[in-house]
Amino acid sequence: MSSSTPAPLPAPGGASYRIAMVCLGNICRSPTAQVVLSAQLADAGLGDRVEVTSAGTGDWHVGDPMDRRAAAELAGSGYDPTAHRARQFDDGWFDHDLVLVMDAQNLQNVAALGGSPGQVRMFRSFDPDGGPESEVPDPWHGGPEGFTEVLAMVERTCRVLVAELRHLLD
Ligand code: 4NP
Repeated sequence: MSSSTPAPLPAPGGASYRIAMVCLGNICRSPTAQVVLSAQLADAGLGDRVEVTSAGTGDWHVGDPMDRRAAAELAGSGYDPTAHRARQFDDGWFDHDLVLVMDAQNLQNVAALGGSPGQVRMFRSFDPDGGPESEVPDPWHGGPEGFTEVLAMVERTCRVLVAELRHLLD
């Protein structure tokens, strides 16, 4: 399956473009997306133009490092997951240019707090193998293959995001 061209990114509101990745616990999916996008942006020479953060809609893991399975998956592919500490999303996060959510429940929870349709989007709306409603499945209750699948999805989606950001910011 392939998606249509993603909708254009919102214009930058300030000197650097600010992106928040959001999932439920902020220990698996959204920090994986944060780490991967940050690394790809650095490789593309855009590391000082774009700021990437992440948060969870839930508060259970606030202050915790990444889930050790998600961290191991990232480390196995050469990324550094160690700096992450979980944070909770609230309406103050709408100061970001773009809020990218991992699943439909995250979208509902975030939209209930505010934001605008162009600002709050499904992360996989940028996935060449996904579409506007595709989700990053929650790997937390499953086996190791779920974390491998999440990383592959995140890496290919972030490659499109980097290209879109280069187009927007260059
Ligand atoms: P995440 O995964 O939303 O990708 O960070 C989860 C982590 C923790 C829980 C659920 C999902 N939890 O229920 O504690």
